[in-house]
Amino acid sequence: MRKVLRLVVLCLIVNFMQAKSRKNILFLVADDMRPDLGVYRSGDPVIHTPNLDALAGKSLLLKKAYVQQAYCSPSRTSLLTGRRPDTTHVYDLVHYFRQSGGNFTTIPQYFKERGYNSIGMGKIFHPGRKASEFDDPISWSRPYFHSDENEAYQGRKHSWRAVSKDEYNDKPLPDIQLANKAIEVLRQVGPAAKRGEQPFFMAVGFYKPHLPFVFPEEYLSLYPPENIKLPKNGYIPAHMPPIAWSKYWELLIYKDIAELQVSGQPNTSLPRDVVMNLRRAYYSSISFIDNEVGRVLQELKTLGLEDNTIVSFLGDHGWQLGEHGEWCKHTNFEDALHAPMMIRVPGITDGGIVSERLTEFVDLFPTLVESAGFTPLTLCSEVNSTKTILCREGTSLMPLMQNPTRKWKSAAFSQYPRYLNGLLIMGYSVRNDKFRYTEWVQFNRKPSFKPNWNILYGAELYDHTTDPGENFNRADEAEYHDHRVTLMGLLHKGWRNSLPPALEK
Ligand SMILES: *[C@@H]1O[C@H](CO)[C@@H](O)[C@H](O)[C@H]1NC(C)=O
Ligand SMILES: *[C@@H]1O[C@H](CO)[C@@H](O)[C@H](O)[C@H]1NC(C)=O
Ligand SMILES: *[C@@H]1O[C@H](CO)[C@@H](O)[C@H](O)[C@H]1NC(C)=O
Repeated sequence: MRKVLRLVVLCLIVNFMQAKSRKNILFLVADDMRPDLGVYRSGDPVIHTPNLDALAGKSLLLKKAYVQQAYCSPSRTSLLTGRRPDTTHVYDLVHYFRQSGGNFTTIPQYFKERGYNSIGMGKIFHPGRKASEFDDPISWSRPYFHSDENEAYQGRKHSWRAVSKDEYNDKPLPDIQLANKAIEVLRQVGPAAKRGEQPFFMAVGFYKPHLPFVFPEEYLSLYPPENIKLPKNGYIPAHMPPIAWSKYWELLIYKDIAELQVSGQPNTSLPRDVVMNLRRAYYSSISFIDNEVGRVLQELKTLGLEDNTIVSFLGDHGWQLGEHGEWCKHTNFEDALHAPMMIRVPGITDGGIVSERLTEFVDLFPTLVESAGFTPLTLCSEVNSTKTILCREGTSLMPLMQNPTRKWKSAAFSQYPRYLNGLLIMGYSVRNDKFRYTEWVQFNRKPSFKPNWNILYGAELYDHTTDPGENFNRADEAEYHDHRVTLMGLLHKGWRNSLPPALEK
Protein backbone atom coordinates (compact mmCIF):
# COMPACT_ATOMS: atom_id res chain seq x y z
CA MET A 1 0.00 0.00 0.00
CA ARG A 2 2.81 2.36 0.95
CA LYS A 3 4.64 1.56 -2.26
CA VAL A 4 1.56 2.34 -4.28
CA LEU A 5 1.13 5.59 -2.44
CA ARG A 6 4.74 6.57 -3.07
CA LEU A 7 4.30 5.77 -6.74
CA VAL A 8 1.15 7.88 -6.92
CA VAL A 9 2.88 10.81 -5.23
CA LEU A 10 5.86 10.45 -7.56
CA CYS A 11 3.56 10.40 -10.60
CA LEU A 12 1.82 13.52 -9.39
CA ILE A 13 5.12 15.34 -8.90
CA VAL A 14 6.31 14.29 -12.36
CA ASN A 15 3.00 15.43 -13.83
CA PHE A 16 3.23 18.79 -12.10
CA MET A 17 6.80 19.31 -13.25
CA GLN A 18 5.94 18.40 -16.81
CA ALA A 19 2.92 20.68 -16.69
CA LYS A 20 5.19 23.70 -16.52
CA SER A 21 6.17 23.53 -20.15
CA ARG A 22 2.76 22.48 -21.39
CA LYS A 23 0.54 24.35 -23.76
CA ASN A 24 -2.59 25.95 -22.30
CA ILE A 25 -6.00 24.86 -23.50
CA LEU A 26 -8.91 27.13 -24.34
CA PHE A 27 -12.03 25.02 -24.67
CA LEU A 28 -14.93 26.85 -26.34
CA VAL A 29 -18.50 25.58 -26.72
CA ALA A 30 -21.62 27.20 -28.19
CA ASP A 31 -25.05 25.91 -27.24
CA ASP A 32 -27.23 24.56 -30.09
CA MET A 33 -24.94 25.93 -32.80
CA ARG A 34 -25.24 23.97 -36.02
CA PRO A 35 -22.54 24.31 -38.70
CA ASP A 36 -23.96 27.55 -40.06
CA LEU A 37 -20.55 29.15 -40.22
CA GLY A 38 -18.95 30.77 -43.22
CA VAL A 39 -16.41 27.92 -43.47
CA TYR A 40 -19.11 25.24 -43.50
CA ARG A 41 -21.83 26.70 -45.71
CA SER A 42 -21.29 28.70 -48.82
CA GLY A 43 -24.46 30.72 -48.97
CA ASP A 44 -28.21 31.08 -48.71
CA PRO A 45 -27.61 33.44 -46.94
CA VAL A 46 -23.91 33.88 -46.29
CA ILE A 47 -23.43 33.49 -42.55
CA HIS A 48 -21.25 36.17 -41.04
CA THR A 49 -18.74 34.47 -38.70
CA PRO A 50 -15.38 36.15 -39.39
CA ASN A 51 -13.83 35.17 -36.06
CA LEU A 52 -14.71 31.48 -36.19
CA ASP A 53 -13.71 31.37 -39.86
CA ALA A 54 -10.33 32.86 -38.94
CA LEU A 55 -9.91 30.30 -36.15
CA ALA A 56 -10.83 27.55 -38.61
CA GLY A 57 -8.10 28.88 -40.92
CA LYS A 58 -5.51 27.98 -38.25
CA SER A 59 -7.15 24.75 -37.09
CA LEU A 60 -8.02 21.23 -38.05
CA LEU A 61 -11.56 21.86 -39.28
CA LEU A 62 -13.75 18.76 -39.12
CA LYS A 63 -16.32 19.03 -41.89
CA LYS A 64 -18.10 15.82 -40.94
CA ALA A 65 -18.14 15.64 -37.17
CA TYR A 66 -21.14 13.98 -35.53
CA VAL A 67 -22.43 14.16 -31.98
CA GLN A 68 -23.34 10.98 -30.13
CA GLN A 69 -26.78 12.28 -29.15
CA ALA A 70 -28.54 15.44 -30.29
CA TYR A 71 -29.42 16.71 -26.83
CA CYS A 72 -27.49 18.93 -24.46
CA SER A 73 -26.51 16.89 -21.43
CA PRO A 74 -26.12 13.53 -23.20
CA SER A 75 -23.91 15.08 -25.88
CA ARG A 76 -21.81 17.13 -23.48
CA THR A 77 -21.45 14.29 -20.99
CA SER A 78 -20.32 12.04 -23.81
CA LEU A 79 -17.73 14.39 -25.27
CA LEU A 80 -16.48 15.54 -21.85
CA THR A 81 -15.93 11.95 -20.66
CA GLY A 82 -14.90 10.61 -24.07
CA ARG A 83 -17.54 7.87 -23.76
CA ARG A 84 -20.79 7.16 -25.52
CA PRO A 85 -24.29 7.47 -24.06
CA ASP A 86 -24.60 3.68 -23.63
CA THR A 87 -21.59 3.93 -21.29
CA THR A 88 -22.44 7.17 -19.45
CA HIS A 89 -26.11 6.12 -19.27
CA VAL A 90 -27.02 9.77 -19.67
CA TYR A 91 -29.79 10.13 -22.25
CA ASP A 92 -31.69 13.01 -20.64
CA LEU A 93 -31.22 16.10 -18.48
CA VAL A 94 -31.86 14.46 -15.10
CA HIS A 95 -29.10 11.86 -14.79
CA TYR A 96 -25.53 12.58 -13.69
CA PHE A 97 -22.85 10.35 -15.19
CA ARG A 98 -20.95 9.92 -11.91
CA GLN A 99 -24.08 8.28 -10.50
CA SER A 100 -25.52 6.63 -13.60
CA GLY A 101 -22.42 5.52 -15.54
CA GLY A 102 -19.29 5.65 -13.43
CA ASN A 103 -16.92 8.04 -11.72
CA PHE A 104 -15.28 8.87 -15.06
CA THR A 105 -12.50 11.41 -15.51
CA THR A 106 -13.63 14.43 -17.54
CA ILE A 107 -11.51 16.56 -19.87
CA PRO A 108 -11.10 19.47 -17.40
CA GLN A 109 -10.54 17.06 -14.53
CA TYR A 110 -7.83 15.28 -16.51
CA PHE A 111 -5.87 18.50 -16.96
CA LYS A 112 -6.52 19.64 -13.41
CA GLU A 113 -5.03 16.39 -12.11
CA ARG A 114 -1.95 17.06 -14.22
CA GLY A 115 -1.18 20.45 -12.75
CA TYR A 116 -3.29 22.72 -14.91
CA ASN A 117 -5.33 25.55 -13.48
CA SER A 118 -8.75 24.26 -14.54
CA ILE A 119 -11.27 27.06 -14.93
CA GLY A 120 -14.89 26.73 -16.01
CA MET A 121 -17.51 29.30 -16.91
CA GLY A 122 -20.86 29.46 -18.69
CA LYS A 123 -22.52 26.30 -19.95
CA ILE A 124 -20.07 23.41 -20.12
CA PHE A 125 -21.84 20.58 -18.32
CA HIS A 126 -25.61 20.82 -18.32
CA PRO A 127 -26.16 23.04 -15.27
CA GLY A 128 -28.21 22.32 -12.14
CA ARG A 129 -28.17 19.66 -9.45
CA LYS A 130 -29.66 16.73 -11.33
CA ALA A 131 -27.50 16.70 -14.45
CA SER A 132 -24.15 17.66 -12.91
CA GLU A 133 -24.37 18.45 -9.17
CA PHE A 134 -23.90 22.05 -10.29
CA ASP A 135 -21.29 21.94 -13.05
CA ASP A 136 -19.34 18.91 -11.83
CA PRO A 137 -17.19 20.55 -9.11
CA ILE A 138 -14.57 17.74 -9.33
CA SER A 139 -13.57 19.11 -12.74
CA TRP A 140 -12.44 22.57 -11.68
CA SER A 141 -9.63 24.17 -9.69
CA ARG A 142 -11.70 27.14 -8.58
CA PRO A 143 -15.35 28.13 -8.10
CA TYR A 144 -17.40 27.98 -11.27
CA PHE A 145 -18.71 31.12 -12.94
CA HIS A 146 -22.17 31.67 -14.42
CA SER A 147 -23.42 34.93 -15.90
CA ASP A 148 -26.32 36.73 -14.29
CA GLU A 149 -29.38 35.43 -16.04
CA ASN A 150 -31.23 38.59 -16.60
CA GLU A 151 -34.97 37.90 -16.38
CA ALA A 152 -35.62 40.26 -19.23
CA TYR A 153 -33.75 37.87 -21.50
CA GLN A 154 -34.92 34.56 -20.09
CA GLY A 155 -38.72 34.40 -20.06
CA ARG A 156 -40.88 32.21 -22.25
CA LYS A 157 -42.74 35.09 -23.78
CA HIS A 158 -40.75 35.52 -26.98
CA SER A 159 -38.93 32.85 -28.93
CA TRP A 160 -36.58 35.58 -30.16
CA ARG A 161 -35.79 39.19 -29.42
CA ALA A 162 -33.38 41.81 -30.75
CA VAL A 163 -32.15 43.89 -27.82
CA SER A 164 -31.32 47.57 -28.21
CA LYS A 165 -27.90 48.90 -27.31
CA ASP A 166 -29.34 50.98 -24.47
CA GLU A 167 -30.99 47.93 -22.99
CA TYR A 168 -28.01 45.60 -23.16
CA ASN A 169 -25.63 48.28 -21.95
CA ASP A 170 -27.90 48.65 -18.95
CA LYS A 171 -28.41 44.90 -18.48
CA PRO A 172 -25.54 43.02 -20.15
CA LEU A 173 -26.53 39.93 -22.11
CA PRO A 174 -25.23 36.73 -20.44
CA ASP A 175 -22.81 35.97 -23.28
CA ILE A 176 -21.32 39.46 -23.12
CA GLN A 177 -20.80 39.00 -19.37
CA LEU A 178 -19.24 35.64 -20.11
CA ALA A 179 -16.76 36.94 -22.68
CA ASN A 180 -15.88 39.78 -20.29
CA LYS A 181 -15.22 37.25 -17.55
CA ALA A 182 -13.11 35.09 -19.84
CA ILE A 183 -11.02 38.13 -20.76
CA GLU A 184 -10.64 39.12 -17.11
CA VAL A 185 -9.53 35.62 -16.10
CA LEU A 186 -7.11 35.34 -19.04
CA ARG A 187 -5.46 38.51 -17.79
CA GLN A 188 -5.18 36.94 -14.32
CA VAL A 189 -3.81 33.55 -15.27
CA GLY A 190 -2.03 34.51 -18.50
CA PRO A 191 1.21 35.87 -16.99
CA ALA A 192 1.88 32.75 -14.87
CA ALA A 193 1.14 30.58 -17.90
CA LYS A 194 3.49 32.62 -20.02
CA ARG A 195 6.29 32.38 -17.48
CA GLY A 196 5.83 28.60 -17.55
CA GLU A 197 4.66 28.47 -13.93
CA GLN A 198 1.22 26.97 -14.43
CA PRO A 199 -0.69 26.29 -17.64
CA PHE A 200 -4.45 26.80 -17.71
CA PHE A 201 -7.33 24.80 -19.03
CA MET A 202 -10.11 27.32 -19.52
CA ALA A 203 -13.59 26.25 -20.63
CA VAL A 204 -15.98 28.94 -21.84
CA GLY A 205 -19.51 27.77 -22.64
CA PHE A 206 -21.59 30.30 -24.56
CA TYR A 207 -25.32 30.23 -23.87
CA LYS A 208 -26.52 31.13 -27.38
CA PRO A 209 -27.69 30.44 -30.08
CA HIS A 210 -29.97 28.37 -27.80
CA LEU A 211 -33.63 29.46 -27.57
CA PRO A 212 -34.83 32.09 -26.88
CA PHE A 213 -32.80 33.77 -29.62
CA VAL A 214 -31.90 36.99 -27.79
CA PHE A 215 -29.13 39.10 -29.33
CA PRO A 216 -27.98 42.71 -29.84
CA GLU A 217 -30.18 44.24 -32.50
CA GLU A 218 -27.29 45.40 -34.70
CA TYR A 219 -26.76 41.81 -35.90
CA LEU A 220 -30.09 41.89 -37.72
CA SER A 221 -28.59 44.23 -40.30
CA LEU A 222 -26.27 41.40 -41.43
CA TYR A 223 -29.36 39.48 -42.49
CA PRO A 224 -31.81 41.71 -44.37
CA PRO A 225 -35.23 40.04 -44.62
CA GLU A 226 -34.97 39.72 -48.40
CA ASN A 227 -31.92 37.46 -47.98
CA ILE A 228 -33.69 34.99 -45.72
CA LYS A 229 -35.05 31.89 -47.41
CA LEU A 230 -37.45 29.18 -46.37
CA PRO A 231 -35.91 25.72 -46.04
CA LYS A 232 -36.12 23.82 -49.33
CA ASN A 233 -37.75 20.88 -47.60
CA GLY A 234 -40.48 22.11 -45.28
CA TYR A 235 -42.06 18.62 -45.24
CA ILE A 236 -41.26 15.25 -43.68
CA PRO A 237 -39.22 12.62 -45.53
CA ALA A 238 -41.33 10.34 -47.71
CA HIS A 239 -42.03 7.09 -45.81
CA MET A 240 -40.71 8.45 -42.53
CA PRO A 241 -41.64 6.18 -39.60
CA PRO A 242 -43.63 8.24 -37.03
CA ILE A 243 -41.14 7.37 -34.25
CA ALA A 244 -38.48 9.45 -36.00
CA TRP A 245 -40.43 12.63 -35.31
CA SER A 246 -40.01 15.08 -32.44
CA LYS A 247 -42.85 17.48 -31.66
CA TYR A 248 -40.37 20.29 -30.96
CA TRP A 249 -41.83 21.05 -27.53
CA GLU A 250 -38.81 23.19 -26.79
CA LEU A 251 -40.03 25.78 -29.29
CA LEU A 252 -43.74 25.37 -28.55
CA ILE A 253 -43.31 26.49 -24.94
CA TYR A 254 -42.74 30.10 -26.04
CA LYS A 255 -45.87 32.21 -25.83
CA ASP A 256 -45.54 33.76 -29.29
CA ILE A 257 -45.35 30.26 -30.82
CA ALA A 258 -47.98 28.67 -28.53
CA GLU A 259 -50.43 31.36 -29.61
CA LEU A 260 -50.26 30.02 -33.14
CA GLN A 261 -51.83 26.80 -31.84
CA VAL A 262 -49.70 24.52 -33.95
CA SER A 263 -49.67 20.86 -32.94
CA GLY A 264 -46.03 20.03 -33.71
CA GLN A 265 -47.26 16.98 -35.66
CA PRO A 266 -45.46 15.82 -38.82
CA ASN A 267 -46.31 17.82 -41.94
CA THR A 268 -47.91 20.67 -40.07
CA SER A 269 -45.89 23.82 -40.22
CA LEU A 270 -45.45 27.26 -38.78
CA PRO A 271 -46.57 30.31 -40.75
CA ARG A 272 -44.07 31.50 -43.33
CA ASP A 273 -43.23 34.80 -41.61
CA VAL A 274 -42.60 33.02 -38.30
CA VAL A 275 -40.20 30.58 -39.99
CA MET A 276 -38.39 33.48 -41.68
CA ASN A 277 -38.08 35.45 -38.45
CA LEU A 278 -36.79 32.46 -36.50
CA ARG A 279 -34.17 31.76 -39.16
CA ARG A 280 -33.09 35.38 -39.19
CA ALA A 281 -32.87 35.48 -35.41
CA TYR A 282 -30.88 32.23 -35.28
CA TYR A 283 -28.32 33.51 -37.79
CA SER A 284 -28.08 36.79 -35.88
CA SER A 285 -27.45 34.86 -32.66
CA ILE A 286 -24.65 32.90 -34.34
CA SER A 287 -22.99 36.12 -35.49
CA PHE A 288 -23.37 37.53 -31.99
CA ILE A 289 -21.58 34.52 -30.49
CA ASP A 290 -18.94 34.71 -33.20
CA ASN A 291 -18.22 38.24 -32.05
CA GLU A 292 -17.94 37.24 -28.37
CA VAL A 293 -15.65 34.31 -29.26
CA GLY A 294 -13.59 36.79 -31.27
CA ARG A 295 -13.15 39.09 -28.28
CA VAL A 296 -11.80 36.22 -26.18
CA LEU A 297 -9.45 35.06 -28.95
CA GLN A 298 -8.22 38.62 -29.44
CA GLU A 299 -7.31 38.82 -25.76
CA LEU A 300 -5.39 35.56 -26.04
CA LYS A 301 -3.41 37.16 -28.84
CA THR A 302 -2.91 40.45 -27.03
CA LEU A 303 -1.52 38.59 -24.01
CA GLY A 304 0.96 36.81 -26.26
CA LEU A 305 -0.56 33.41 -25.50
CA GLU A 306 -1.78 32.49 -28.95
CA ASP A 307 1.20 30.38 -29.94
CA ASN A 308 1.18 28.59 -26.65
CA THR A 309 -2.51 27.70 -26.38
CA ILE A 310 -4.47 24.87 -27.93
CA VAL A 311 -7.98 26.08 -28.85
CA SER A 312 -10.96 23.85 -29.50
CA PHE A 313 -14.37 25.07 -30.59
CA LEU A 314 -17.58 23.12 -31.00
CA GLY A 315 -21.37 23.33 -30.99
CA ASP A 316 -22.91 20.70 -28.70
CA HIS A 317 -25.13 19.39 -31.53
CA GLY A 318 -26.97 20.50 -34.65
CA TRP A 319 -30.38 22.12 -34.93
CA GLN A 320 -33.37 21.92 -37.23
CA LEU A 321 -34.38 25.34 -38.41
CA GLY A 322 -37.56 24.32 -40.20
CA GLU A 323 -36.01 21.64 -42.42
CA HIS A 324 -38.60 18.83 -42.66
CA GLY A 325 -40.90 21.26 -40.82
CA GLU A 326 -38.87 20.17 -37.79
CA TRP A 327 -37.42 22.40 -35.05
CA CYS A 328 -34.80 22.13 -32.33
CA LYS A 329 -32.70 18.97 -31.95
CA HIS A 330 -34.08 15.73 -30.42
CA THR A 331 -33.90 13.64 -33.62
CA ASN A 332 -31.52 11.42 -35.55
CA PHE A 333 -31.63 13.51 -38.70
CA GLU A 334 -28.39 14.81 -40.19
CA ASP A 335 -29.31 18.40 -39.28
CA ALA A 336 -29.48 17.49 -35.59
CA LEU A 337 -26.38 15.29 -35.48
CA HIS A 338 -23.96 17.25 -37.61
CA ALA A 339 -22.18 19.95 -35.62
CA PRO A 340 -19.16 22.23 -35.95
CA MET A 341 -15.83 21.18 -34.47
CA MET A 342 -12.33 22.61 -34.93
CA ILE A 343 -9.08 22.21 -33.04
CA ARG A 344 -6.11 24.55 -33.23
CA VAL A 345 -2.77 23.13 -32.19
CA PRO A 346 -0.05 25.79 -32.53
CA GLY A 347 2.87 24.60 -34.61
CA ILE A 348 0.81 21.82 -36.20
CA THR A 349 -2.38 23.27 -37.65
CA ASP A 350 -1.21 26.84 -38.31
CA GLY A 351 -1.76 26.69 -42.05
CA GLY A 352 -5.30 25.39 -41.64
CA ILE A 353 -6.25 21.77 -42.32
CA VAL A 354 -9.66 20.68 -43.53
CA SER A 355 -10.78 17.09 -43.16
CA GLU A 356 -13.90 15.56 -44.67
CA ARG A 357 -13.35 12.31 -42.81
CA LEU A 358 -16.09 11.01 -40.54
CA THR A 359 -15.34 11.99 -36.98
CA GLU A 360 -17.20 11.87 -33.69
CA PHE A 361 -17.36 14.16 -30.69
CA VAL A 362 -15.93 11.41 -28.45
CA ASP A 363 -12.70 11.97 -30.42
CA LEU A 364 -12.04 15.31 -28.77
CA PHE A 365 -10.82 14.03 -25.38
CA PRO A 366 -8.05 11.78 -26.76
CA THR A 367 -7.09 14.54 -29.23
CA LEU A 368 -6.60 17.14 -26.51
CA VAL A 369 -4.63 14.70 -24.38
CA GLU A 370 -2.24 13.91 -27.22
CA SER A 371 -1.93 17.42 -28.59
CA ALA A 372 -0.89 18.59 -25.10
CA GLY A 373 1.82 15.93 -25.14
CA PHE A 374 0.44 13.43 -22.62
CA THR A 375 0.45 9.65 -22.92
CA PRO A 376 -2.34 8.53 -25.24
CA LEU A 377 -5.44 7.18 -23.51
CA THR A 378 -6.22 3.51 -23.85
CA LEU A 379 -9.34 2.24 -25.56
CA CYS A 380 -12.05 1.30 -23.06
CA SER A 381 -12.56 -2.41 -22.55
CA GLU A 382 -15.45 -3.93 -24.40
CA VAL A 383 -16.47 -6.02 -21.42
CA ASN A 384 -17.30 -3.37 -18.84
CA SER A 385 -15.52 -0.06 -18.26
CA THR A 386 -17.76 1.13 -15.42
CA LYS A 387 -14.89 0.96 -12.96
CA THR A 388 -12.21 2.31 -15.32
CA ILE A 389 -12.01 5.98 -14.48
CA LEU A 390 -9.84 6.87 -17.47
CA CYS A 391 -10.14 5.39 -20.97
CA ARG A 392 -11.54 6.42 -24.34
CA GLU A 393 -14.26 5.42 -26.74
CA GLY A 394 -13.07 7.84 -29.40
CA THR A 395 -9.90 8.16 -31.46
CA SER A 396 -7.32 10.95 -31.36
CA LEU A 397 -7.57 13.16 -34.44
CA MET A 398 -3.84 13.94 -34.47
CA PRO A 399 -3.20 11.63 -37.47
CA LEU A 400 -5.69 13.73 -39.49
CA MET A 401 -3.56 16.79 -38.76
CA GLN A 402 -0.71 15.02 -40.56
CA ASN A 403 -2.87 13.69 -43.36
CA PRO A 404 -6.48 14.89 -43.48
CA THR A 405 -7.45 12.47 -46.26
CA ARG A 406 -6.01 9.29 -44.76
CA LYS A 407 -8.25 6.27 -44.37
CA TRP A 408 -10.26 6.90 -41.25
CA LYS A 409 -13.38 5.74 -39.41
CA SER A 410 -15.78 3.95 -41.73
CA ALA A 411 -18.79 5.29 -39.83
CA ALA A 412 -20.01 7.67 -37.11
CA PHE A 413 -22.54 6.54 -34.49
CA SER A 414 -25.35 8.37 -32.72
CA GLN A 415 -28.52 7.58 -30.86
CA TYR A 416 -31.75 9.09 -29.53
CA PRO A 417 -34.28 7.63 -27.08
CA ARG A 418 -38.08 7.90 -27.30
CA TYR A 419 -40.88 6.73 -25.06
CA LEU A 420 -43.81 5.00 -26.69
CA ASN A 421 -46.68 3.97 -24.41
CA GLY A 422 -44.27 3.73 -21.50
CA LEU A 423 -41.79 1.61 -23.46
CA LEU A 424 -38.26 2.85 -24.02
CA ILE A 425 -37.26 2.81 -27.68
CA MET A 426 -33.77 3.73 -28.84
CA GLY A 427 -33.05 5.11 -32.28
CA TYR A 428 -29.55 4.00 -33.28
CA SER A 429 -28.11 5.84 -36.25
CA VAL A 430 -25.01 5.27 -38.33
CA ARG A 431 -23.51 7.63 -40.92
CA ASN A 432 -20.99 6.40 -43.45
CA ASP A 433 -19.64 8.26 -46.47
CA LYS A 434 -22.79 7.71 -48.54
CA PHE A 435 -25.70 6.88 -46.29
CA ARG A 436 -27.44 7.54 -43.02
CA TYR A 437 -29.16 4.47 -41.60
CA THR A 438 -31.29 4.44 -38.45
CA GLU A 439 -33.17 1.71 -36.58
CA TRP A 440 -35.64 2.45 -33.78
CA VAL A 441 -35.62 -0.60 -31.54
CA GLN A 442 -36.67 -1.76 -28.11
CA PHE A 443 -34.05 -0.87 -25.52
CA ASN A 444 -33.29 -2.68 -22.30
CA ARG A 445 -32.25 -0.17 -19.71
CA LYS A 446 -30.87 -1.77 -16.57
CA PRO A 447 -28.70 -3.72 -16.31
CA SER A 448 -27.46 -4.30 -19.86
CA PHE A 449 -28.20 -0.99 -21.60
CA LYS A 450 -28.42 -2.87 -24.85
CA PRO A 451 -30.83 -2.78 -27.78
CA ASN A 452 -33.01 -5.64 -28.87
CA TRP A 453 -32.46 -5.45 -32.64
CA ASN A 454 -35.29 -7.90 -33.24
CA ILE A 455 -38.02 -5.57 -32.01
CA LEU A 456 -38.08 -2.84 -34.63
CA TYR A 457 -40.34 0.24 -34.54
CA GLY A 458 -39.04 1.86 -37.70
CA ALA A 459 -36.05 2.07 -40.02
CA GLU A 460 -34.69 4.93 -42.12
CA LEU A 461 -32.19 4.85 -44.94
CA TYR A 462 -31.16 8.11 -46.60
CA ASP A 463 -28.91 8.16 -49.64
CA HIS A 464 -26.69 11.20 -49.23
CA THR A 465 -25.23 10.84 -52.72
CA THR A 466 -28.58 11.85 -54.25
CA ASP A 467 -30.56 13.12 -51.27
CA PRO A 468 -28.46 15.25 -48.88
CA GLY A 469 -31.64 16.76 -47.42
CA GLU A 470 -32.82 13.28 -46.32
CA ASN A 471 -36.19 13.61 -48.03
CA PHE A 472 -36.69 9.99 -49.12
CA ASN A 473 -36.54 7.09 -46.72
CA ARG A 474 -35.36 4.15 -48.86
CA ALA A 475 -35.30 1.54 -46.10
CA ASP A 476 -38.08 -0.52 -47.67
CA GLU A 477 -37.14 -0.07 -51.33
CA ALA A 478 -36.04 -3.24 -53.13
CA GLU A 479 -33.36 -1.29 -54.96
CA TYR A 480 -31.69 -0.46 -51.65
CA HIS A 481 -31.98 -3.92 -50.15
CA ASP A 482 -28.27 -4.77 -50.42
CA HIS A 483 -27.23 -1.40 -49.04
CA ARG A 484 -29.59 -1.89 -46.15
CA VAL A 485 -28.13 -5.28 -45.31
CA THR A 486 -24.62 -3.78 -45.29
CA LEU A 487 -25.66 -0.79 -43.21
CA MET A 488 -27.53 -3.03 -40.79
CA GLY A 489 -24.30 -4.99 -40.25
CA LEU A 490 -22.41 -1.76 -39.68
CA LEU A 491 -24.99 -0.51 -37.17
CA HIS A 492 -25.37 -3.75 -35.24
CA LYS A 493 -21.63 -4.40 -34.99
CA GLY A 494 -21.21 -0.91 -33.58
CA TRP A 495 -18.46 1.68 -33.33
CA ARG A 496 -15.65 -0.70 -32.39
CA ASN A 497 -15.96 -2.29 -35.79
CA SER A 498 -15.58 1.06 -37.63
CA LEU A 499 -12.40 2.45 -36.10
CA PRO A 500 -9.58 3.69 -38.35
CA PRO A 501 -7.57 0.84 -39.83
CA ALA A 502 -3.97 0.27 -38.67
CA LEU A 503 -4.38 2.61 -35.71
CA GLU A 504 -6.78 0.41 -33.82
CA LYS A 505 -6.97 -3.30 -33.26
C1 LIG B 1 -14.81 10.18 -7.91
O1 LIG B 1 -13.50 10.55 -8.27
C2 LIG B 1 -13.05 11.70 -7.60
C3 LIG B 1 -11.71 12.11 -8.19
O2 LIG B 1 -10.83 11.05 -8.24
C4 LIG B 1 -13.00 11.45 -6.10
O3 LIG B 1 -12.57 12.61 -5.44
C5 LIG B 1 -14.38 11.06 -5.63
O4 LIG B 1 -14.35 10.73 -4.27
C6 LIG B 1 -14.91 9.89 -6.43
N1 LIG B 1 -16.30 9.66 -6.08
C7 LIG B 1 -16.77 8.47 -5.81
C8 LIG B 1 -18.23 8.39 -5.48
O5 LIG B 1 -16.07 7.47 -5.82
C1 LIG C 1 -46.11 15.66 -46.35
O1 LIG C 1 -46.11 16.79 -47.21
C2 LIG C 1 -45.53 16.56 -48.49
C3 LIG C 1 -45.42 17.88 -49.22
O2 LIG C 1 -46.61 18.56 -49.15
C4 LIG C 1 -46.36 15.53 -49.23
O3 LIG C 1 -45.80 15.28 -50.49
C5 LIG C 1 -46.40 14.25 -48.40
O4 LIG C 1 -47.25 13.30 -49.01
C6 LIG C 1 -46.89 14.51 -46.99
N1 LIG C 1 -46.72 13.30 -46.20
C7 LIG C 1 -47.67 12.82 -45.39
C8 LIG C 1 -47.35 11.55 -44.68
O5 LIG C 1 -48.72 13.39 -45.22
C1 LIG D 1 -20.50 -3.45 -15.11
O1 LIG D 1 -19.93 -3.39 -13.84
C2 LIG D 1 -20.69 -2.69 -12.86
C3 LIG D 1 -19.90 -2.52 -11.60
O2 LIG D 1 -18.90 -3.51 -11.46
C4 LIG D 1 -22.01 -3.38 -12.65
O3 LIG D 1 -22.79 -2.68 -11.70
C5 LIG D 1 -22.75 -3.44 -13.97
O4 LIG D 1 -23.97 -4.15 -13.83
C6 LIG D 1 -21.88 -4.10 -15.03
N1 LIG D 1 -22.57 -4.00 -16.32
C7 LIG D 1 -22.79 -5.02 -17.11
C8 LIG D 1 -23.50 -4.75 -18.40
O5 LIG D 1 -22.41 -6.15 -16.83
